[in-house]
Amino acid sequence: MIIGIPKETRDLEHRVALSPESVGKLVKRGCEIILEKNAGLASGFIDSMYADAGATVVDKVDDVFAKAELIAMVQSPTDDQIKKLKKGQTLVAFLWALQNKDLVGKLKDAGVTSLAMEAVPRITRAQKMDALSSMSSIAGYKAVLLAANHLGKYFPMLMTAAGTIPPSKVLILGAGVAGLQAIATARRLGAVVEAFDVRPAVKEQVQSLGATFIDIPLKPEDAETKGGYAKEQSEENKQITRDTLHSHVKKSDIVITTALVPGKKAPVLITKDMVEDMAPGSVIIDLAAEQGGNCELTQAGKVVNHKEVLIDGPLNVPSSMAYHASLLYSRNMLALLDHLLTKENALHFDFEDEITQYSTITHAGEFVSPALKNGL
Ligand code: NAI
Repeated sequence: MIIGIPKETRDLEHRVALSPESVGKLVKRGCEIILEKNAGLASGFIDSMYADAGATVVDKVDDVFAKAELIAMVQSPTDDQIKKLKKGQTLVAFLWALQNKDLVGKLKDAGVTSLAMEAVPRITRAQKMDALSSMSSIAGYKAVLLAANHLGKYFPMLMTAAGTIPPSKVLILGAGVAGLQAIATARRLGAVVEAFDVRPAVKEQVQSLGATFIDIPLKPEDAETKGGYAKEQSEENKQITRDTLHSHVKKSDIVITTALVPGKKAPVLITKDMVEDMAPGSVIIDLAAEQGGNCELTQAGKVVNHKEVLIDGPLNVPSSMAYHASLLYSRNMLALLDHLLTKENALHFDFEDEITQYSTITHAGEFVSPALKNGL
Protein backbone atom coordinates (compact mmCIF):
# COMPACT_ATOMS: atom_id res chain seq x y z
CA MET A 1 0.00 0.00 0.00
CA ILE A 2 1.42 3.34 -1.06
CA ILE A 3 -0.08 6.30 0.82
CA GLY A 4 0.38 9.85 -0.46
CA ILE A 5 0.24 13.05 1.59
CA PRO A 6 -0.16 16.22 -0.50
CA LYS A 7 0.32 19.67 1.03
CA GLU A 8 -3.07 21.21 1.84
CA THR A 9 -3.86 24.06 -0.54
CA ARG A 10 -7.10 25.58 0.71
CA ASP A 11 -7.10 29.03 2.35
CA LEU A 12 -6.50 29.10 6.13
CA GLU A 13 -5.55 25.41 6.15
CA HIS A 14 -2.43 24.72 8.18
CA ARG A 15 -3.05 21.09 9.06
CA VAL A 16 -1.57 17.98 7.48
CA ALA A 17 -3.41 14.66 7.17
CA LEU A 18 -0.74 12.38 8.65
CA SER A 19 1.85 13.27 11.29
CA PRO A 20 5.35 11.77 11.45
CA GLU A 21 4.13 9.69 14.42
CA SER A 22 1.40 8.01 12.32
CA VAL A 23 3.69 7.71 9.31
CA GLY A 24 6.15 5.78 11.49
CA LYS A 25 3.38 3.38 12.49
CA LEU A 26 2.21 2.89 8.90
CA VAL A 27 5.77 2.26 7.70
CA LYS A 28 6.21 -0.25 10.50
CA ARG A 29 3.17 -2.18 9.33
CA GLY A 30 4.61 -2.29 5.80
CA CYS A 31 3.05 0.71 4.04
CA GLU A 32 5.04 3.05 1.85
CA ILE A 33 4.53 6.81 2.34
CA ILE A 34 5.10 9.60 -0.18
CA LEU A 35 4.95 13.14 1.14
CA GLU A 36 4.91 16.37 -0.85
CA LYS A 37 7.73 18.50 0.50
CA ASN A 38 6.73 20.94 3.24
CA ALA A 39 3.32 19.26 3.61
CA GLY A 40 3.65 19.31 7.41
CA LEU A 41 5.57 22.56 7.77
CA ALA A 42 2.64 24.76 8.82
CA SER A 43 1.78 22.24 11.58
CA GLY A 44 5.32 22.17 12.92
CA PHE A 45 6.33 18.89 11.25
CA ILE A 46 9.38 19.36 9.03
CA ASP A 47 10.35 17.06 6.16
CA SER A 48 13.25 15.48 8.03
CA MET A 49 10.82 14.25 10.73
CA TYR A 50 8.88 12.42 8.02
CA ALA A 51 12.06 11.11 6.40
CA ASP A 52 13.22 9.82 9.81
CA ALA A 53 9.86 8.07 10.17
CA GLY A 54 10.46 6.32 6.84
CA ALA A 55 8.58 8.50 4.31
CA THR A 56 9.87 9.49 0.89
CA VAL A 57 9.70 13.26 0.43
CA VAL A 58 9.08 14.40 -3.16
CA ASP A 59 9.22 17.87 -4.73
CA LYS A 60 6.17 17.65 -6.94
CA VAL A 61 2.61 17.05 -5.86
CA ASP A 62 2.01 15.26 -9.19
CA ASP A 63 4.39 12.52 -8.04
CA VAL A 64 2.26 12.01 -4.94
CA PHE A 65 -0.95 11.64 -6.96
CA ALA A 66 0.70 9.50 -9.65
CA LYS A 67 2.27 6.94 -7.32
CA ALA A 68 -0.03 6.68 -4.31
CA GLU A 69 -2.88 4.17 -4.09
CA LEU A 70 -4.45 6.14 -1.25
CA ILE A 71 -4.38 9.92 -0.86
CA ALA A 72 -4.67 11.24 2.70
CA MET A 73 -5.94 14.80 3.02
CA VAL A 74 -7.61 17.07 5.57
CA GLN A 75 -9.77 19.25 3.32
CA SER A 76 -11.79 18.08 0.34
CA PRO A 77 -9.88 18.13 -2.95
CA THR A 78 -10.01 21.17 -5.23
CA ASP A 79 -11.09 20.72 -8.86
CA ASP A 80 -7.43 20.72 -9.80
CA GLN A 81 -6.72 17.89 -7.35
CA ILE A 82 -9.78 15.92 -8.49
CA LYS A 83 -8.33 15.96 -12.01
CA LYS A 84 -5.17 14.34 -10.65
CA LEU A 85 -7.11 11.48 -9.00
CA LYS A 86 -7.32 8.22 -10.96
CA LYS A 87 -9.93 5.52 -11.27
CA GLY A 88 -9.53 2.97 -8.47
CA GLN A 89 -7.51 5.35 -6.29
CA THR A 90 -8.75 5.94 -2.73
CA LEU A 91 -9.12 9.34 -1.09
CA VAL A 92 -9.68 9.98 2.62
CA ALA A 93 -10.53 13.55 3.75
CA PHE A 94 -13.26 15.73 5.21
CA LEU A 95 -15.61 15.85 2.21
CA TRP A 96 -18.71 17.37 3.88
CA ALA A 97 -20.52 15.06 1.49
CA LEU A 98 -24.04 16.14 2.50
CA GLN A 99 -23.29 19.74 1.57
CA ASN A 100 -20.95 19.01 -1.36
CA LYS A 101 -23.11 16.89 -3.66
CA ASP A 102 -21.31 18.31 -6.69
CA LEU A 103 -17.89 17.32 -5.39
CA VAL A 104 -18.86 13.77 -4.44
CA GLY A 105 -20.61 13.40 -7.81
CA LYS A 106 -17.30 14.19 -9.50
CA LEU A 107 -15.47 11.64 -7.33
CA LYS A 108 -18.09 9.00 -8.18
CA ASP A 109 -17.84 9.72 -11.91
CA ALA A 110 -14.04 9.56 -11.73
CA GLY A 111 -14.28 6.06 -10.22
CA VAL A 112 -12.49 7.20 -7.07
CA THR A 113 -13.17 5.43 -3.78
CA SER A 114 -13.73 8.29 -1.35
CA LEU A 115 -14.05 8.13 2.41
CA ALA A 116 -15.34 11.10 4.40
CA MET A 117 -13.94 11.62 7.87
CA GLU A 118 -17.15 13.42 8.89
CA ALA A 119 -19.23 10.38 7.97
CA VAL A 120 -17.53 7.99 10.40
CA PRO A 121 -20.47 6.92 12.60
CA ARG A 122 -20.40 8.26 16.19
CA ILE A 123 -20.53 4.77 17.69
CA THR A 124 -18.35 3.55 20.54
CA ARG A 125 -16.37 1.19 18.29
CA ALA A 126 -15.41 4.12 16.03
CA GLN A 127 -14.52 6.63 18.75
CA LYS A 128 -10.82 6.58 17.95
CA MET A 129 -11.63 7.47 14.31
CA ASP A 130 -13.88 10.38 15.27
CA ALA A 131 -12.15 13.39 13.72
CA LEU A 132 -15.25 15.56 14.17
CA SER A 133 -14.88 15.22 17.93
CA SER A 134 -11.12 15.84 17.87
CA MET A 135 -11.57 19.01 15.82
CA SER A 136 -14.67 20.26 17.69
CA SER A 137 -12.88 19.88 20.99
CA ILE A 138 -10.05 22.09 19.73
CA ALA A 139 -12.55 24.64 18.40
CA GLY A 140 -14.36 24.77 21.76
CA TYR A 141 -11.11 25.32 23.65
CA LYS A 142 -9.81 27.95 21.22
CA ALA A 143 -13.13 29.82 21.18
CA VAL A 144 -12.72 30.58 24.88
CA LEU A 145 -9.18 31.85 24.34
CA LEU A 146 -10.37 34.06 21.47
CA ALA A 147 -13.13 35.42 23.67
CA ALA A 148 -10.74 36.03 26.58
CA ASN A 149 -8.45 37.89 24.22
CA HIS A 150 -11.24 40.21 23.02
CA LEU A 151 -12.69 40.80 26.49
CA GLY A 152 -11.34 43.64 28.59
CA LYS A 153 -12.07 41.72 31.78
CA TYR A 154 -10.63 38.98 33.97
CA PHE A 155 -12.31 35.58 33.84
CA PRO A 156 -11.79 34.61 37.53
CA MET A 157 -12.97 36.37 40.63
CA LEU A 158 -10.01 38.25 42.07
CA MET A 159 -9.54 39.87 45.44
CA THR A 160 -6.94 42.55 45.03
CA ALA A 161 -5.72 45.43 47.19
CA ALA A 162 -7.61 47.65 44.77
CA GLY A 163 -10.85 45.82 45.46
CA THR A 164 -12.73 42.72 44.37
CA ILE A 165 -13.23 41.78 40.72
CA PRO A 166 -16.30 39.63 40.08
CA PRO A 167 -15.91 36.62 37.77
CA SER A 168 -16.92 36.90 34.10
CA LYS A 169 -20.20 35.35 33.02
CA VAL A 170 -20.00 33.02 30.05
CA LEU A 171 -22.95 31.55 28.17
CA ILE A 172 -22.46 28.54 25.90
CA LEU A 173 -25.16 27.71 23.35
CA GLY A 174 -24.97 24.18 21.98
CA ALA A 175 -23.34 21.70 24.34
CA GLY A 176 -22.02 19.08 21.94
CA VAL A 177 -18.32 18.30 21.80
CA ALA A 178 -17.22 21.92 21.14
CA GLY A 179 -19.66 23.38 23.67
CA LEU A 180 -18.64 20.98 26.44
CA GLN A 181 -14.95 21.73 25.85
CA ALA A 182 -15.74 25.46 25.89
CA ILE A 183 -17.55 25.01 29.23
CA ALA A 184 -14.59 23.11 30.70
CA THR A 185 -12.09 25.71 29.44
CA ALA A 186 -14.10 28.71 30.66
CA ARG A 187 -14.54 27.01 34.05
CA ARG A 188 -10.79 26.33 34.28
CA LEU A 189 -10.20 30.06 33.74
CA GLY A 190 -12.59 30.79 36.59
CA ALA A 191 -15.70 32.08 34.81
CA VAL A 192 -19.27 31.45 35.91
CA VAL A 193 -20.80 29.41 33.10
CA GLU A 194 -24.34 28.74 31.87
CA ALA A 195 -25.25 26.53 28.91
CA PHE A 196 -28.18 25.42 26.78
CA ASP A 197 -28.77 22.66 24.24
CA VAL A 198 -31.92 21.27 22.65
CA ARG A 199 -30.86 17.70 23.42
CA PRO A 200 -32.03 17.02 26.99
CA ALA A 201 -29.39 14.30 27.38
CA VAL A 202 -26.62 16.88 27.75
CA LYS A 203 -28.03 18.52 30.90
CA GLU A 204 -26.11 16.16 33.18
CA GLN A 205 -22.89 16.57 31.19
CA VAL A 206 -23.18 20.36 31.46
CA GLN A 207 -23.77 20.16 35.21
CA SER A 208 -20.92 17.71 35.74
CA LEU A 209 -18.55 20.34 34.29
CA GLY A 210 -19.70 22.87 36.87
CA ALA A 211 -22.00 24.91 34.63
CA THR A 212 -25.69 25.72 35.07
CA PHE A 213 -28.05 24.22 32.48
CA ILE A 214 -30.75 26.60 31.27
CA ASP A 215 -34.04 24.70 31.16
CA ILE A 216 -36.24 26.00 28.36
CA PRO A 217 -39.86 24.83 28.26
CA LEU A 218 -39.81 23.62 24.65
CA LYS A 219 -42.83 21.96 23.06
CA PRO A 220 -42.06 18.23 23.03
CA GLU A 221 -40.38 17.32 19.75
CA ASP A 222 -38.08 14.60 18.67
CA ALA A 223 -34.82 16.41 19.51
CA GLU A 224 -32.33 13.81 18.22
CA THR A 225 -31.62 11.79 15.09
CA LYS A 226 -30.72 8.10 15.28
CA GLY A 227 -27.06 9.17 15.00
CA GLY A 228 -27.36 11.34 18.15
CA TYR A 229 -27.41 14.67 16.29
CA ALA A 230 -29.85 17.50 16.96
CA LYS A 231 -32.87 17.82 14.68
CA GLU A 232 -34.02 21.16 13.33
CA GLN A 233 -36.51 22.71 15.77
CA SER A 234 -39.95 24.01 14.81
CA GLU A 235 -40.35 27.79 14.36
CA GLU A 236 -42.37 27.82 17.61
CA ASN A 237 -39.57 26.18 19.59
CA LYS A 238 -36.97 28.45 18.03
CA GLN A 239 -39.01 31.46 19.20
CA ILE A 240 -39.44 30.05 22.74
CA THR A 241 -35.67 29.44 22.83
CA ARG A 242 -34.83 33.00 21.77
CA ASP A 243 -37.35 34.51 24.22
CA THR A 244 -35.88 32.58 27.15
CA LEU A 245 -32.27 33.12 26.14
CA HIS A 246 -32.67 36.89 25.79
CA SER A 247 -32.21 37.67 29.50
CA HIS A 248 -29.28 35.22 29.77
CA VAL A 249 -27.53 36.75 26.76
CA LYS A 250 -28.11 40.24 28.17
CA LYS A 251 -26.25 39.52 31.43
CA SER A 252 -23.35 37.58 29.81
CA ASP A 253 -19.89 39.01 29.21
CA ILE A 254 -19.21 36.31 26.66
CA VAL A 255 -21.49 34.13 24.55
CA ILE A 256 -19.97 31.20 22.67
CA THR A 257 -22.31 29.59 20.17
CA THR A 258 -21.76 26.13 18.71
CA ALA A 259 -25.26 25.00 17.68
CA LEU A 260 -25.35 22.95 14.49
CA VAL A 261 -27.82 20.71 12.71
CA PRO A 262 -26.08 18.38 10.19
CA GLY A 263 -26.73 19.28 6.57
CA LYS A 264 -28.79 22.39 7.52
CA LYS A 265 -28.11 26.08 8.04
CA ALA A 266 -27.19 26.79 11.68
CA PRO A 267 -30.16 27.90 13.84
CA VAL A 268 -30.29 31.62 14.67
CA LEU A 269 -30.31 31.80 18.47
CA ILE A 270 -29.15 35.41 18.97
CA THR A 271 -30.99 38.23 17.23
CA LYS A 272 -29.88 41.81 16.65
CA ASP A 273 -32.17 42.97 19.50
CA MET A 274 -30.47 40.59 21.89
CA VAL A 275 -27.01 41.85 20.88
CA GLU A 276 -28.14 45.44 21.38
CA ASP A 277 -29.18 44.57 24.94
CA MET A 278 -25.68 43.31 25.83
CA ALA A 279 -23.28 45.54 27.79
CA PRO A 280 -20.62 47.40 25.79
CA GLY A 281 -17.40 45.37 25.60
CA SER A 282 -19.23 42.03 25.58
CA VAL A 283 -18.09 39.37 23.15
CA ILE A 284 -19.81 36.74 21.00
CA ILE A 285 -17.76 33.96 19.42
CA ASP A 286 -19.85 32.22 16.79
CA LEU A 287 -18.35 28.83 16.00
CA ALA A 288 -21.27 28.16 13.66
CA ALA A 289 -20.14 31.02 11.36
CA GLU A 290 -19.23 28.61 8.54
CA GLN A 291 -22.81 27.24 8.54
CA GLY A 292 -24.45 30.68 8.49
CA GLY A 293 -23.96 31.55 12.16
CA ASN A 294 -26.02 31.31 15.37
CA CYS A 295 -26.06 35.09 15.66
CA GLU A 296 -27.98 37.23 13.21
CA LEU A 297 -25.09 39.70 12.94
CA THR A 298 -22.26 37.21 12.40
CA GLN A 299 -20.11 37.67 9.32
CA ALA A 300 -18.08 34.57 8.55
CA GLY A 301 -14.35 35.16 8.93
CA LYS A 302 -14.79 38.66 10.38
CA VAL A 303 -14.92 40.43 13.74
CA VAL A 304 -17.89 42.81 13.69
CA ASN A 305 -18.27 45.62 16.20
CA HIS A 306 -22.00 46.23 16.65
CA LYS A 307 -22.65 49.06 19.10
CA GLU A 308 -19.54 48.07 21.09
CA VAL A 309 -20.36 44.35 21.20
CA LEU A 310 -17.77 42.27 19.31
CA ILE A 311 -19.10 39.41 17.21
CA ASP A 312 -16.33 37.13 16.00
CA GLY A 313 -17.19 34.46 13.41
CA PRO A 314 -13.87 32.65 13.00
CA LEU A 315 -13.32 30.15 10.18
CA ASN A 316 -11.46 26.86 10.44
CA VAL A 317 -10.62 27.29 14.13
CA PRO A 318 -8.95 23.84 14.51
CA SER A 319 -6.39 24.87 11.89
CA SER A 320 -5.26 27.71 14.19
CA MET A 321 -3.95 25.00 16.52
CA ALA A 322 -2.43 23.07 13.63
CA TYR A 323 0.07 20.98 15.61
CA HIS A 324 -2.40 19.25 17.89
CA ALA A 325 -5.18 19.37 15.30
CA SER A 326 -2.93 17.48 12.84
CA LEU A 327 -1.69 15.07 15.48
CA LEU A 328 -5.23 14.11 16.52
CA TYR A 329 -6.68 14.08 12.98
CA SER A 330 -3.81 11.86 11.94
CA ARG A 331 -4.49 9.42 14.80
CA ASN A 332 -8.17 9.34 13.77
CA MET A 333 -7.19 8.64 10.17
CA LEU A 334 -4.68 5.98 11.22
CA ALA A 335 -7.42 4.21 13.19
CA LEU A 336 -9.67 4.28 10.11
CA LEU A 337 -6.86 2.92 7.91
CA ASP A 338 -6.15 0.19 10.46
CA HIS A 339 -9.82 -0.71 10.19
CA LEU A 340 -9.71 -0.93 6.38
CA LEU A 341 -6.32 -2.53 5.79
CA THR A 342 -5.83 -6.28 5.77
CA LYS A 343 -2.78 -7.90 7.37
CA GLU A 344 -1.18 -7.79 3.90
CA ASN A 345 -1.91 -4.04 3.72
CA ALA A 346 -4.55 -4.25 1.01
CA LEU A 347 -7.68 -2.12 1.32
CA HIS A 348 -10.73 -4.22 2.14
CA PHE A 349 -14.20 -2.70 1.83
CA ASP A 350 -16.66 -4.76 3.83
CA PHE A 351 -19.94 -2.88 3.37
CA GLU A 352 -21.65 -5.14 5.92
CA ASP A 353 -19.56 -3.29 8.47
CA GLU A 354 -21.25 -0.08 9.67
CA ILE A 355 -18.06 1.96 9.96
CA THR A 356 -16.89 1.11 6.42
CA GLN A 357 -20.35 1.46 4.93
CA TYR A 358 -21.12 4.88 6.43
CA SER A 359 -17.63 6.32 5.86
CA THR A 360 -17.40 5.28 2.21
CA ILE A 361 -19.07 7.91 0.08
CA THR A 362 -18.17 6.59 -3.39
CA HIS A 363 -16.81 3.23 -4.56
CA ALA A 364 -16.57 1.65 -8.03
CA GLY A 365 -18.67 4.41 -9.62
CA GLU A 366 -21.52 4.19 -7.05
CA PHE A 367 -22.62 6.13 -3.98
CA VAL A 368 -22.34 3.92 -0.90
CA SER A 369 -22.93 5.68 2.45
CA PRO A 370 -26.58 5.57 3.65
CA ALA A 371 -25.85 9.00 5.21
CA LEU A 372 -26.17 10.53 1.74
CA LYS A 373 -29.82 9.46 1.61
CA ASN A 374 -30.83 9.38 5.26
CA GLY A 375 -28.57 12.05 6.82
CA LEU A 376 -26.13 11.52 9.70
P1 NAI B 1 -22.91 19.29 16.44
O1 NAI B 1 -21.59 19.94 16.20
O2 NAI B 1 -23.66 18.73 15.30
O3 NAI B 1 -23.87 20.37 17.17
C1 NAI B 1 -23.43 21.05 18.32
C2 NAI B 1 -24.51 21.09 19.35
O4 NAI B 1 -25.53 22.01 18.95
C3 NAI B 1 -25.22 19.76 19.58
O5 NAI B 1 -25.08 19.38 20.93
C4 NAI B 1 -26.67 20.06 19.22
O6 NAI B 1 -27.59 19.35 20.03
C5 NAI B 1 -26.74 21.55 19.48
N1 NAI B 1 -27.88 22.24 18.84
C6 NAI B 1 -28.43 22.04 17.62
N2 NAI B 1 -29.48 22.87 17.43
C7 NAI B 1 -29.60 23.62 18.55
C8 NAI B 1 -30.49 24.65 18.96
N3 NAI B 1 -31.47 25.07 18.17
N4 NAI B 1 -30.33 25.17 20.19
C9 NAI B 1 -29.32 24.74 21.00
N5 NAI B 1 -28.45 23.78 20.67
C10 NAI B 1 -28.58 23.22 19.46
O7 NAI B 1 -22.79 18.18 17.57
P2 NAI B 1 -21.54 17.32 17.99
O8 NAI B 1 -20.74 18.04 18.98
O9 NAI B 1 -20.84 16.88 16.77
O10 NAI B 1 -22.23 16.08 18.70
C11 NAI B 1 -23.22 15.33 18.01
C12 NAI B 1 -23.64 14.11 18.74
O11 NAI B 1 -22.68 13.11 18.66
C13 NAI B 1 -23.89 14.30 20.20
O12 NAI B 1 -25.04 13.57 20.54
C14 NAI B 1 -22.72 13.69 20.87
O13 NAI B 1 -23.00 13.26 22.17
C15 NAI B 1 -22.49 12.54 19.94
N6 NAI B 1 -21.16 12.01 20.03
C16 NAI B 1 -21.01 10.66 20.23
C17 NAI B 1 -19.79 10.10 20.32
C18 NAI B 1 -19.64 8.63 20.55
O14 NAI B 1 -18.62 8.08 20.31
N7 NAI B 1 -20.63 7.92 20.96
C19 NAI B 1 -18.58 10.90 20.19
C20 NAI B 1 -18.84 12.30 19.97
C21 NAI B 1 -20.09 12.80 19.87
